[in-house]
Amino acid sequence: MSYANSRIPSSAQQGVHENLARLVERHLREPFRKPYADYNRAAFEASLAGWDGRAPLILDAGCGVGHSTIQIARAFPDHWVIGVDQSADRLERRKPYPDALLPRNMVFVRADLVDYWRLLHDAGLRLARHYILYPNPWPKIGHLARRWHAHPVFPWLAKLGGVLECRSNWQVYIEEFALALGMAAGRPVAWERFEAEVPLTPFERKYRDSGQALFRVGCDLGGGEAAGQASHSTSGVQQ
Ligand SMILES: C[S@@+](CC[C@H](N)C(=O)[O-])C[C@H]1O[C@@H](n2cnc3c(N)ncnc32)[C@H](O)[C@@H]1O
Repeated sequence: MSYANSRIPSSAQQGVHENLARLVERHLREPFRKPYADYNRAAFEASLAGWDGRAPLILDAGCGVGHSTIQIARAFPDHWVIGVDQSADRLERRKPYPDALLPRNMVFVRADLVDYWRLLHDAGLRLARHYILYPNPWPKIGHLARRWHAHPVFPWLAKLGGVLECRSNWQVYIEEFALALGMAAGRPVAWERFEAEVPLTPFERKYRDSGQALFRVGCDLGGGEAAGQASHSTSGVQQ
């Protein structure tokens, strides 16, 4: 497939999955006790080794090659920005700047987010901002439970607090994410179509240059556990 010819996920599913609300309700009610893998514990420690313990935290979850992490770290120089991805290959790909020009307030770690999110929470840490940019859409109807909002780890995303933003080129994903986040936050969460004038990630650039519509959902979850107080925001990286 050529660069600016990327496709919108094709799916037999045209709207919010009929089982989503039931699944999210179950995940919000039932504990998720998957044991942590040692490499994720080590990655968690590594991600905080350069943190001063005071700077507000930003997580770029599923950061891919990390271009968004770099832009976010530039936009929030007084925050500690953590880019997490499970793919060492993507994380190691050459950055658009030489090392000397990379922001110092960020770190990349290879970890499985299913553990990383819970490790953050267990350590009593909360996020100022949380980005989930162009997650794998898993568009097949039978793959609902692989989408982040339908995964048993989803309640931890809300518990981590902060301004959470998810972007996708699949409208259904964002509608579903908004519904699930609303259930976790205890209030409706809005989503919108937007124009990516300055793309944050390579996927965003590719979709935009292919003429695709882009969608995002954003919500200020405040301090996390008391997420029922949340208010809506889709502020992107603008301060
Ligand atoms: C479609 S890519 C988007 C990457 C980047 N955010 C962007 O927009 O260019 C999704 C990314 O999520 C990562 N990912 C998927 N599941 C993950 C998991 N369980 N833990 C960590 N990263 C994961 C993949 O390795 C991949 O880099």
